[in-house]
Amino acid sequence: MFKTLTALLFALPVVLGRAIDRRASVPAQCAFLLPIVDDLMDNLFENECGDAAHGALRLTFHDAIGIDPVLGGGGADGSIVIFNETELAFEANDGLDDVIDTVGPFFLKHASVLSPGDFVFLAGSLSLATCPGAPQVKLAIGRPPPKAASPDQLVPEPFDSVEKILARMQAGGNFSPQEVIALLSSHSVAGADTVIPGFEGIPFDSTPSVFDTQIFVEVQLRGTFFTGPGGNQGEVMTGVQGTTRLESDHNFARSTPTDCIWQSFVNNQKQMQDQFAAAFFKMSLLGQNENDLIDCSAVIPPAPTFTGNAFFPPSLTHGNVEQACATAAFPNLPTLPGPPEVVPPIPQADDDDDDDS
Ligand code: HEM
Ligand SMILES: *[C@@H]1O[C@H](CO)[C@@H](O)[C@H](O)[C@H]1NC(C)=O
Repeated sequence: MFKTLTALLFALPVVLGRAIDRRASVPAQCAFLLPIVDDLMDNLFENECGDAAHGALRLTFHDAIGIDPVLGGGGADGSIVIFNETELAFEANDGLDDVIDTVGPFFLKHASVLSPGDFVFLAGSLSLATCPGAPQVKLAIGRPPPKAASPDQLVPEPFDSVEKILARMQAGGNFSPQEVIALLSSHSVAGADTVIPGFEGIPFDSTPSVFDTQIFVEVQLRGTFFTGPGGNQGEVMTGVQGTTRLESDHNFARSTPTDCIWQSFVNNQKQMQDQFAAAFFKMSLLGQNENDLIDCSAVIPPAPTFTGNAFFPPSLTHGNVEQACATAAFPNLPTLPGPPEVVPPIPQADDDDDDDS
């Protein structure tokens, strides 16, 4: 009897793992989130910084930036989920149909206790917890249901100019250029599913499963390759085979007022984590009043740690950098050994059930 009880007491924390560990520090009003956290981490993301996690992260932005002082829109309200038939038809939301297919069933499963906006930001905050090197972001809960779809034309496009994107980010979210570049750290764990017709999961850097500063390194390299035929709107030549480069990222790295900001993130993991986390939390509050929300940050687990340094991919050196910042030199970095790399595509979340197509 005693033996059984002891065994049980020791076994419980192992079985309930993540939830038990954090239960002590979680405010009572947030405790209902713990089983949802486990469900999303284990069953939606499968504890991987892969396609499902990348999609959930992108979804936060496309939901939240749907707000404008003149045109309206509810911001971080989950309208992209509820009014998916309207918002997924916007050109800038291309590719999010796959994301809604993947996360939708999890939203519906928990919809009786979690509002759409809260779900989008819980999933996005947790997606980061799967990516080594990502910061532990803050999470506020209690958003009311969305009232209407966002108006069209509020989500930046990769072929928009730096001026246009900065103006939109300022109008929609009061984001400074520094905060916009911090938010673009997200493209460290990202790829394109729709920019190059016929190609899916083409990564933006050579390490799409690690939230590291390689995106800032690799976008600054001279472009010499297209993955696929090239010539697509919003795409420019990339420096690393197998990857693709957005025209907007390319221009942010090469234009005032953002070129020196872009370069300052190179090999500056701590700056990237801190500034991304702050800007991401600000984004999560667009259209919301923080005072009406509950701080449930304690339910977000830390991401796996990452201790690596930035590098030049094999065969590339400082000589391949297209220096843009006029006031500071691009840092020198070690070159990874080996022959030139061809970065493989990111496996797609719907690959498993795609065998009928
Ligand atoms: C500000 C201007 C931005 C532009 C022009 C832009 C544009 C794009 C484009 C064109 C794609 C590829 C979509 C596809 O073909 O599937 C993409 C992917 C992605 N973006 Fe952005 N983005 C911006 C900002 C952001 C922000 C602020 C976030 C999040 C905080 C974000 C997160 C992502 C993620 C995670 C992906 C990868 C999705 C996946 O791999 O499935 N982006 N972005
Ligand atoms: C997408 O929109 C349709 C039609 O409004 C709705 O029935 C469906 O539940 C929505 N999907 C999700 C995941 O909410």
